[in-house]
Amino acid sequence: MASDSLSITDNRTGKVYELPVSDGTIKATDLRQIKTGPEDFGLMTYDPAYMNTAACRSAITFIDGDKGILRYRGYPIEQLADKASFLEVAYLLAEGELPNQEQLAKWTHDIKFHTYVHTNIIKFLEGFRYDAHPMGMLLGAIGALSTFYPDAKQIKDPGNRYIQRVRLLAKLPTIAAFIFRQSRGLPYDFPDNDLDYIGNYVNMMFSIGGKHRPNKVLQRALEILLILHADHEQNCSTSAVRSVGSSHVDPFSAVSAGIAALYGPLHGGANEAVLEMLDEIGDVKQIPAFVAKVKRGEGRLMGFGHRVYKSYDPRAKLIKRTADEVFAETGLNPKLEIALELERIALEDEYFISRKLYPNVDFYSGLIYQAMGYPTDYFTVLFAVGRLPGWLAQWEEMLKDADQKIARPRQIYTGADERDFIPIEKR
Ligand code: ACO
Repeated sequence: MASDSLSITDNRTGKVYELPVSDGTIKATDLRQIKTGPEDFGLMTYDPAYMNTAACRSAITFIDGDKGILRYRGYPIEQLADKASFLEVAYLLAEGELPNQEQLAKWTHDIKFHTYVHTNIIKFLEGFRYDAHPMGMLLGAIGALSTFYPDAKQIKDPGNRYIQRVRLLAKLPTIAAFIFRQSRGLPYDFPDNDLDYIGNYVNMMFSIGGKHRPNKVLQRALEILLILHADHEQNCSTSAVRSVGSSHVDPFSAVSAGIAALYGPLHGGANEAVLEMLDEIGDVKQIPAFVAKVKRGEGRLMGFGHRVYKSYDPRAKLIKRTADEVFAETGLNPKLEIALELERIALEDEYFISRKLYPNVDFYSGLIYQAMGYPTDYFTVLFAVGRLPGWLAQWEEMLKDADQKIARPRQIYTGADERDFIPIEKR
C-alpha cells in the first residue's frame, strides 16, 4: 500500500478503497467510486462556503494564516510594501517575476496608453441617481465596458487577454475617479499620462481647476495600501472572478462579478462598516458596553476576524505603521483613539482570544482613507483598485489551468419528492 495514500472503509458495504494523497489533498472526484450499488451516484463531500476545499492549484499568493505570513509569488508582503511600486506588483502577480527595467517601461507605457475611456461611459455614469453607492456604479460601469470591447470575448488568445488586462488596469482608476467626482458634483478630470499610476489617479480625484498639489507621503501611503490589497488567494471576490470567468465570459464581466462580491460588508465592505461602528461607539467610554453587545451575539466587531488568519493579519500590521505616517501629515483622526482602545480591549478579552480574532486589513484602512479625504462609501472602491491585479492574475491562471472546467458545485437535494401539479382553485 502506498504511504502517500488514504484507506477508506465504507461501513455500509464493507469495501475498502485506497485513494492517492497529493499536496495534502485527496481528489473529491476519487470519492465517487465509493458506492452502495450501481444506482448510487457515489460519495460526495459537503462543504458549504468551501471551508476545506481547494478549488484550484495556484502559484500566485501564499498565506500561512497561523503564522501571519503573506507572500506574492514568494516575495514577503513586507518587502513589497517597503520597496515596490503598485505597477511592479501588478506585473509580478500577472507574470510571476518582478519586471526588469525594460519590462517595467513597456508595462507602464501600455497601461498609460489605455487610461482614457469612451465618452459614452460618462453618459452611462450620469444615468445613476445622485446618491448612488460608488460600488454599485463601479460594478455597473466595469460590466458595461465589456460592450465597448467586444473583442474581449476572445479569451483563448493570450495577446488579446493581455490587452484586456492592460485596459482594465488602465481604466479602473479613471472610472473610479469619475465616480468620486460625480458623487461630489465635480466636473470630471481626465487622465494625465505624464503622471505615474497613483499620481494620475489621485490627480483625477482631487484636482480643482486643473490644479492639484500632490502630497507625496499620502500618495505613497495609498500605493502601499493598494499593494497590500493586491491579492489574497481564493477569497470571496477572487473566487467570484474565477467562477464567473470559468464560463469563458469576457474579463470585464468577470471582474464586475468580483466587484459585486467585494461590495458585501463581510468582505471589502468591512472597512466602511468599521467606520460606521466607530461612529456608533462614539466615545471610548462606550467601548465596554459595545464589546459586551458583540459577545452576546448582537453584531460583530467589524474589522476583526478572518477566515484564514488566526493570528494578527500581516497587512494590518503594515497598515498601522502607514497610519502613523499619514496622521503625521493630516493630523490625528479622532476615531483613532476609539479604534486603538477597542483593539486593546478585544485582544485582552477571552471571547476574542479563544476564537483567534485579531484585527484584519480593514480595521485601520478606513481611518487612513478618511484622513486622506475619501468619503466612507468610497473605501471599497479603493479596495477594488488595489485588488484588480490579483483578480486578473487569478483569471489568467484559471484559464491556463488544464484541470479547470466551468465551475459547477453539487448539492444535496432536500426538497419534496415527485408530486402532481395542483390546480390553483384546489391550493
Ligand atoms: N466579531 C465577533 N465575533 C466574531 C467575529 C467578529 N468580527 N468574527 C467571528 N466571530 C465569532 C463568530 O461569532 C463565531 O463564534 P462562535 O464559534 O461562538 O459561533 C466564531 O468567531 C467563528 O466565526 P465564523 O463566522 O465561523 O468565522 P468565518 O471564518 O466564517 O468568518 C469573517 C470570517 C467573515 C471575516 C468574520 O470574522 C467576520 O464577520 N468579521 C467581521 C467582518 C470583517 O471584518 N470582514 C473583513 C474580512 S477581511 C477582508 O475581506 C478583506
